[in-house]
Amino acid sequence: MIFDDFSIKSLIRPVPDFPKPGVVFRDITPLFQSPRALRLVADSFIQRYVESDFSHVAAMDARGFLIGSIIAYELNKPLILFRKQGKLPADVLAESYQTEYGEALLEVHADSLCEGDSVLIFDDLIATGGTLLAAARLVRRMGARVHEAAAIIDLPELGGSQKLQDSGIPTFSLTAFA
Ligand code: PRP
Ligand code: ADE
Repeated sequence: MIFDDFSIKSLIRPVPDFPKPGVVFRDITPLFQSPRALRLVADSFIQRYVESDFSHVAAMDARGFLIGSIIAYELNKPLILFRKQGKLPADVLAESYQTEYGEALLEVHADSLCEGDSVLIFDDLIATGGTLLAAARLVRRMGARVHEAAAIIDLPELGGSQKLQDSGIPTFSLTAFA
């Protein structure tokens, strides 16, 4: 199957002024309602990473779980969940971060990763990069390294993918909205 940027883009719905005035929210629910589009998205990531050398997949709460768990399953890798504050039951490490429309705390179980681990970090979308940069800081605090940051959508005007790359993190997205 060949990746079709036009049909994937047409299944990402722009919702103006959600959740705040001035934000154009990129809604992925239509994409996930299309089995063909979801398969295209998942297969594109699998094709990119099937030969890559990394030890873990990490997925961001909550929309990042949708795609991250499919990739971990298909590539037979351990899946690490990065969650918003107060959701993980055991000892956590935490990093605060800002997104396009809010401020939050990202947590991960402190025993999730070890020195030498190499982690592919997944989210649905990169806006300011706040979420994936916080995840990268947590990965590094456990002595592990980020193999790549990956997302379905990049919003390059918000600068996140550039910030990730400036922090030494290779970054990949399937599509972008200028
Ligand atoms: C959204 C999105 C990414 C993040 C991207 O998550 O799913 O995780 O924002 O923005 P950033 O690049 O500026 O960090 P949100 O915090 O809305 O949570 P949700 O996945 O639970 O809807
Ligand atoms: N997360 C941060 N900014 C977003 C946007 N514009 N659309 C969807 N999710 C987002």
